[in-house]
Amino acid sequence: MATRSTDGARAPGTPYQTYLDRDAQPPTPGVREHVWEPPEGEAEIPVERYVSRDFFELEKRRLWPKVWQMACREEHIPEPGDYTLYEICDHAFIIARQDNGSIRAFYNACLHRGRMLRTEPGSTRQFRCPFHGLTWGLDGQLQELPCAWDFPGVDPATLPLPQARVATWGGWVFLNMDEAAPPLEDYLRPLPEHFATWGLSQSYLGVHVAKVIQANWKAVLDAFSEAWHSRDTHPQILPFTGDTNTRYDIWPDNPHVDRMITPFGVPSPVLEGQIGEGDILAAMAALGEGGRRPAGMAAIELPEGVTGRQIAASKARETAEAMWGRPLPDAPESELLDGILYNVFPNFVPWGGYGPNINYRFRPHGNDHEACVMEVMLLLRHPADQPKPPPAELRWLEADEPWSTATELGGLGAIFDQDNSNLPWVQRGMKATARRRLLLAHVQESRIRHYHGTLMHYLTGP
Ligand code: FES
Ligand SMILES: [Fe+2]
Repeated sequence: MATRSTDGARAPGTPYQTYLDRDAQPPTPGVREHVWEPPEGEAEIPVERYVSRDFFELEKRRLWPKVWQMACREEHIPEPGDYTLYEICDHAFIIARQDNGSIRAFYNACLHRGRMLRTEPGSTRQFRCPFHGLTWGLDGQLQELPCAWDFPGVDPATLPLPQARVATWGGWVFLNMDEAAPPLEDYLRPLPEHFATWGLSQSYLGVHVAKVIQANWKAVLDAFSEAWHSRDTHPQILPFTGDTNTRYDIWPDNPHVDRMITPFGVPSPVLEGQIGEGDILAAMAALGEGGRRPAGMAAIELPEGVTGRQIAASKARETAEAMWGRPLPDAPESELLDGILYNVFPNFVPWGGYGPNINYRFRPHGNDHEACVMEVMLLLRHPADQPKPPPAELRWLEADEPWSTATELGGLGAIFDQDNSNLPWVQRGMKATARRRLLLAHVQESRIRHYHGTLMHYLTGP
């Protein structure tokens, strides 16, 4: 697959493509492909986009009603009548499984005097408003109009619950309020093609943790859109993380998707030549023990010619095979091991690969432009011949509960705590800055520029 990169600037150290060339199993074309042009977006971003109430109101009017947004997993509503809830700012939806297996997203408001129809997920044959009892069927048709004599001229057939568009991909349920938006399959391109071998039909939500973070939703998204903050924010991962030789991919023909791939099982360029292959594995092992290498832990001895990346990939292969319930001899090392993060505009970040896959969603916390709900969802796999397990219950962390208290996240919790230690201070500093603009790196922050370009297109377009 051609490389269309024209970036002159690159971090010192081993390029990601070289690691791919050294791996025993070649990556799929979608992972091999590197597409990057000098970003057209602004190198400097006004802080008002993060701190201004007016800008947030503009997003409420012109962004959220226009975009595809991940609303839930299919396994949240496996049976006809099952429904769950999704909210974004003022908007609220009931997402309901229909008798024919399809999914509908109803605006969660009674058409009489507006009461929300549902405040908890559940299972039902009809949606009866608790206020005066107007009742709609699972399909959204009005079934009962109490005191119909008092609504002269109202024909129940003309009062169905309004719906948003719904489409699914890989077990994720998306909705869109805009009838004119492109189909989801166009919006997501090239994700479906790239994920084709990664077993999404066998995937299920195995871990789901959420926490409110005191920062604008985009400030939190930004912190997961580049890898180079690792040196100062996550120093314990540098022995096994190619932070500054992360590869950034931006497809010129799709404004809604971009990607970064961070090599794991290799040292950061700042440590290349300074640590041994065994140190890589020791640091990886320590991550699983809370994210910090225990004092005095000796490097793991490796046979001559064996690399830390090879051993790390073989351990990742064992983990994936145990989940999938079958051998995966052809799975490329890169797709077992590396951090392959796609951004789906505006706020969904699915990781690729054989799993377990991290997924993030970043939403405004209700109507607060200075608080974000960050969700971490781990997609696991079940053997193909076994039924899909039920989804994990959502675990909410309180404001004073660190991510590391969610032990189901393993060593990731300590990493998110490190991210979280910056974010409220990012928000505070963006209000205090005299310069009033953020300065973005050319390559490593090109994805932030890219999505800002898309964002401004929505906010200022027709
Ligand atoms: S508000 Fe729903 S029936 Fe009156
Ligand atoms: Fe981070």
